Amino acid sequence: VGLSAADDAFLERALELAAIARRSAPPNPNVGCVVVRDGVILGEGFTAAPGGPHAEVAALEAAGEVRGATAYVTLEPCAHHGRTPPCADALLAAGIGRVVIAARDPAPWVDGRGVERLRAGGVAVDLLGEQHPLAIRARCENAGFRTAVTLGRPHVTYKAAVSLDGRTATRTSDSRWISSPESRRLVHEWRAAAGAVLVGVDTAIADDATLTARDCVPAPARQPLRVVLDRTARLPITARLVRTASAGPVLVMTGPDAPAERRAALEEAGVETAAVDDLAGAMAALHARGVQSVLCEGGQTVAGALLEAGLIDRIALFVAPIVIGDPAAPGIFGAGIAPARVADALRLASLEPRTSGPDILLDAWIRIPA
Ligand SMILES: NC(=O)c1ccc[n+]([C@@H]2O[C@H](COP(=O)([O-])OP(=O)(O)OC[C@H]3O[C@@H](n4cnc5c(N)ncnc54)[C@H](OP(=O)(O)O)[C@@H]3O)[C@@H](O)[C@H]2O)c1
Repeated sequence: VGLSAADDAFLERALELAAIARRSAPPNPNVGCVVVRDGVILGEGFTAAPGGPHAEVAALEAAGEVRGATAYVTLEPCAHHGRTPPCADALLAAGIGRVVIAARDPAPWVDGRGVERLRAGGVAVDLLGEQHPLAIRARCENAGFRTAVTLGRPHVTYKAAVSLDGRTATRTSDSRWISSPESRRLVHEWRAAAGAVLVGVDTAIADDATLTARDCVPAPARQPLRVVLDRTARLPITARLVRTASAGPVLVMTGPDAPAERRAALEEAGVETAAVDDLAGAMAALHARGVQSVLCEGGQTVAGALLEAGLIDRIALFVAPIVIGDPAAPGIFGAGIAPARVADALRLASLEPRTSGPDILLDAWIRIPA
């Protein structure tokens, strides 16, 4: 599709709107919509919490009379009756003349039907090509939703803070704090938008963190599920994670043979436990609970195991302006894919730097969502 610079700018605005709904939209995809006539924005909208209006309906309501106007949407308008009526119908009824769509909706209950319905109603539809930078951005914006729908598991972001020389702690397991307050505040925002935050039991013990989303503006309406991978259920009930179980749900995922009395002790303390076979089983169990996105904040052991299992989609690496300079200090992946040749290394789909206070955030996507 040949889009003008103005088209791109309105789609970018729609993507900004979509980002506002990151926390509140799930399990629905967070979408943004801008309605424009003669280069002037008539109305804007983004996905409300489940049950509330979708982005298109919100933008149409804000715009008023929109006959012949263009709607820019970050995701294909829905064509089915869910908790709300189809957005494609709302656009048709309002008399919208053209719809520019950043990305197809991969859900089997939409998957092209929104576009078909609009075209059948006489609307000009421009759907961006899959490799268009704004199409990629739009798919990344809905990474959790798209991964859940297309792969049947949550989208996994591995987040770590490292020294310039790639160390995640000192040899004595001290890691407080490698990244800056600005970076840590950003992580709290990510936690608030994640379906689950996940660590290995050794991080849960060493850092004794609560892993709740705090320091967010506005304050989070809900806490992410906090998950500990702990095959023998050895997480002490004195751990902060356990002691804060009333502040938000905690799930300890054990191996199939974890001692029943330890599981019982954890459950007694208000923590849920679930037995899984392996990492794929853990992801399947989270998917079954409706978790679409996982923020992994575990150490190098869990990170390496996830990488090896092909279960990391994105790496968010905060590189701090410090040097630890110790080969005995842990790195990012304790084990993993370990290719013999550089040619066989895992190649990223994209890598972008961003500043975060005094740190540099490397945003690395291993897999761009389909
Ligand atoms: N700088 C950073 O960003 C950062 C982030 C996190 C942690 N850290 C630091 O890293 C250190 C902890 O790292 P770590 O690697 O020891 O902790 P970890 O990766 O969080 O936890 C490792 C443990 O997870 C359990 N586990 C459960 N399922 C597993 C699976 N499928 N594969 C592998 N392990 C599994 C294992 O214990 P079981 O076999 O008993 O289940 C394993 O010993 C701490 O010093 C912490 O401060 C730094």
